[in-house]
Amino acid sequence: MANLENILQSLTLEEKCALCSGVTNWRTACIKDKNVPSIMVADGPHGIRKELVSADVANFMQDSMPSTCFPTAVTVASTWDADIAYKMGEAIAEEAVDQGVDVVLGPGVNIKRNPLCGRNFEYFSEDPYLAGELSAAYVNGVQSKKVGTSLKHFAVNSQEHRRMTISSEVDERALREIYLPAFENTVKKAQPYTIMCSYNPINGVHASDNKMLLNDILREEWGYNGIVVSDWGAVNDRVKGILAGLDLEMPTSNGIRDKEIAEAVKSGKITEADLDKVVMRMLDFAFRCQKDREEHKDIKADYDKNFDLACEISEKGAVMLKNDGILPLKKDAKIAVIGNLAKKMRYQGSGSSRINPKKLTSFTDYLDEIKADYSYADGYDPDCDGIDKTMLAQAVNSAADKDVVLLFIGLTDNYESEGFDRSHMDLPMAHNVLVEELSKLNKNLVIVLSGGSAMALPWINKVNAVLNMYLCGCAGGKACYRLIYGEANPCGKLAETFPISIKDNPAYLYFQMGPQTVEYRESIFVGYRYFDSAKKQVRFPFGYGLSYTTFAYSDLKLSAEEITDNDKLEVSFAITNTGKVKGAEIAQVYVKDVESTIFREEKSLKAFVKVELKAGETKTVSVTLDKRSFAFYNTEVSDWTVESGDFEIMVGASSRDIVLESKVKVTSDTKAVPSYMSSASCYYNIGDYGDIPDKDFRNLLGRELIDNVPLAKGDIDYNACLGDLGVCWIGKLLKWAAYKFSAKIMPKDSPEFMKKMAQKSALSMPLRNAFAMTNGLVPQRVVDGLIKRCNGKPFQGMGMMIGGFLAKKGTKKIELYRPNV
Ligand code: BGC
Repeated sequence: MANLENILQSLTLEEKCALCSGVTNWRTACIKDKNVPSIMVADGPHGIRKELVSADVANFMQDSMPSTCFPTAVTVASTWDADIAYKMGEAIAEEAVDQGVDVVLGPGVNIKRNPLCGRNFEYFSEDPYLAGELSAAYVNGVQSKKVGTSLKHFAVNSQEHRRMTISSEVDERALREIYLPAFENTVKKAQPYTIMCSYNPINGVHASDNKMLLNDILREEWGYNGIVVSDWGAVNDRVKGILAGLDLEMPTSNGIRDKEIAEAVKSGKITEADLDKVVMRMLDFAFRCQKDREEHKDIKADYDKNFDLACEISEKGAVMLKNDGILPLKKDAKIAVIGNLAKKMRYQGSGSSRINPKKLTSFTDYLDEIKADYSYADGYDPDCDGIDKTMLAQAVNSAADKDVVLLFIGLTDNYESEGFDRSHMDLPMAHNVLVEELSKLNKNLVIVLSGGSAMALPWINKVNAVLNMYLCGCAGGKACYRLIYGEANPCGKLAETFPISIKDNPAYLYFQMGPQTVEYRESIFVGYRYFDSAKKQVRFPFGYGLSYTTFAYSDLKLSAEEITDNDKLEVSFAITNTGKVKGAEIAQVYVKDVESTIFREEKSLKAFVKVELKAGETKTVSVTLDKRSFAFYNTEVSDWTVESGDFEIMVGASSRDIVLESKVKVTSDTKAVPSYMSSASCYYNIGDYGDIPDKDFRNLLGRELIDNVPLAKGDIDYNACLGDLGVCWIGKLLKWAAYKFSAKIMPKDSPEFMKKMAQKSALSMPLRNAFAMTNGLVPQRVVDGLIKRCNGKPFQGMGMMIGGFLAKKGTKKIELYRPNV
């Protein structure tokens, strides 16, 4: 490997600055005559999305090279299978090598705080332990082939609404116990080459210049040794970012930020030594990836094999939610297949992770492939929610003389995407009406669901079976067939709770919010931690899923009755397959602190095992619990501590189906345990509260809450969004233009949902990106003038804007600050 110290010494200031940001959307800078290589990144996480043109900012979401589209993270999570996540990582890495990609941008481990987050399909779970285990396995899988990953989006980015500017207001304990552990586990177990900071501020400080996150926690506490890259367009203050530990800005800022960094060094705002730390990490990263290319050059991608793996993951990640015995279907049953989603299955979500699948098999494709006999009707128009009476009648007709109706419904493309959140938890109206109408026929009605997150299923008692395929990847049609006909036995379990109504979600009142802040008022009570503590009925609990066989649990043994918080506890138990076919069971181990000074959740997941069993077979399994399994994050001492006392160890088939229980006494020398009994008492009885009182959250947060008021004249700055500019006529005009023309930068013939994403993204784009991400089209002075104009200085503002555009004429961009690049 090159001597990095020597190379660093040989770099000019301009060259150093050039290394701190990309040169295109997907490439880092190279310094040719010093042999510093350029590195190529491409989106994941469930396949490679290498754009066909090296897009500059005028292009957005270009077509990409065909690759295997694996099931998305929500489906991978429902496998609860770290081995398969590892295998998927290996396969994606092989395709990355095949396509010349050095780093895959994934996985995403943000927590599913609310079912409505538009990107839930790209994230694993509402539970940080499960998310962290699967993420670490995936990263290890990719990196075992000498291809890098980018763990994202660091951190507390659980909604799309105003994602670039809204501050996630979260108390320290929730941050440590809910929003960070999946990152922490992945860093400690897998050291991803890169970590992508999120767009949003956390408690008022942008992730991209958040020293506490990027340096103090990530590097100093967790021992991270890779680089931090900005999410695309996330940089708020580049110079502060250098000091905070943000190494690479992506995509290119066309030299603007290089200049800012260089000026900061020249003016003494930062020292060259500060910059060198970042540059050294960038050099280390670039040369490491270069060495990897040498080492992995003989790796070949086998796209056929990967299609089969995608099928296996889809089978293992599908969750059977209901079955009165109709499934598995007999091969000779006369079937009507209804629903456009059977023909055009929803196999992935939308946005930066959208893969161009090399091969794609929907359910009806597979039926045709094996020459099955079936009737088919669309049932609804996938592009609109309303009922089409003709289609509805055709569907009913098609079902009339059949034994079984297989009805494919779910969230269509317009519902879930990066860039916007869902506005409700319901399925499209036409889908619900179809269920109602078909259920009146007294046929066996089997529902196959597609979608990337929890959905409301009001008709659940009127159908015979529900198989949730989630977003099943390119081979989902085949997987679905194999599950329905019993060629594969469903074994997936939910990695998220399905509430009955969205109003039951603890963040219902505190989701999206804005314009300034979104308050994570429910604190640690996310997902089942809330539902189980509040004893609230749910549609399907966390960890739930059915099989074609049954399992019995027995013989719970703990290695000790009493331990100290430094000891480990072995928990073992037996699982028996009590049914007639082989199957796999996912057993979950939860821990409950029986009595505590600090408020705690009813139970939380600390371990899980997935075990395959032949009919009648019994296996004994064991897991190890350690200090973290009993600890809470103690803000008094800024560390994980255990409060002495009894803890229940619960083994279950879901968070609501605990089948074995025992107790252990844990002692520790923890003295200081904060109590919020009087200052924030609602957290001790969370079920009694529809809304969390301001006072309680304020006391937990330890500071005043910020008033969310619409931006007015005087409030517009670089972090105001284009959508906020309605404060003066020119702002209104720009807002209108951004909305109108944003869809035009998408590739020709883009579907509606992609246009919607572009429009929503444009309106929530902060003004700072208007000059940093437009390839020099909009000079910074113009934006400065616009801000003045919007803030009530019309003449000065207009003058600056006109001056800015005039000065732009003849200016050279990029090249000035990209020597040798
Ligand atoms: C997304 C990232 C993605 C990046 C590059 C951003 O908008 O948030 O997840 O990796 O774009 O496409």
